[in-house]
Amino acid sequence: MLDKEVTKKNLNKLVLGFYTRVLKDDLIGPIFIDILGKDLKEQKWKAHIELLTNFWASLALGEKEYKSSPFAPHIEFKERLSVKAFEQWLKLFNETLNTIFHPQIADQFLAKSKTIAGNFIRNLQLT
Ligand code: HEM
Repeated sequence: MLDKEVTKKNLNKLVLGFYTRVLKDDLIGPIFIDILGKDLKEQKWKAHIELLTNFWASLALGEKEYKSSPFAPHIEFKERLSVKAFEQWLKLFNETLNTIFHPQIADQFLAKSKTIAGNFIRNLQLT
């Protein structure tokens, strides 16, 4: 049964499910593994998953916990990023969205993430 409502709980499921896919991915998995490790149960990952759950909750639910800057950390590993890497990120995110949300909601998240990815690509001047 696909969710028709966005909650903090299903956002957490989205983020966990997404990173489970990411870690198995040959293209973008290694970037995350080098920075956060390979075990989603480790503290670094737990903090990242909570941060990203709050990030999506701020966009989808107007919650206020996320106060950081999404763009800044990506500058640190800019040389490992590419348009292709972002396409893969979007593909895995879309696949995860479709396992959790009703298409109407999944499409809204995908549209939002495409806009953000486009901004990152432009600001990082990726090819
Ligand atoms: C290939 C594409 C991407 C890669 C490899 C990537 C990788 C990462 C990594 C490794 C971190 C953790 C950095 C750290 O803790 O030092 C991070 C943080 C983050 N990423 Fe990405 N990312 C990508 C695309 C995106 C996209 C498209 C979005 C949004 C739609 C996004 C949103 C975020 C946010 C919100 C944070 C936390 C920033 C903070 O507040 O510290 N990322 N990313």
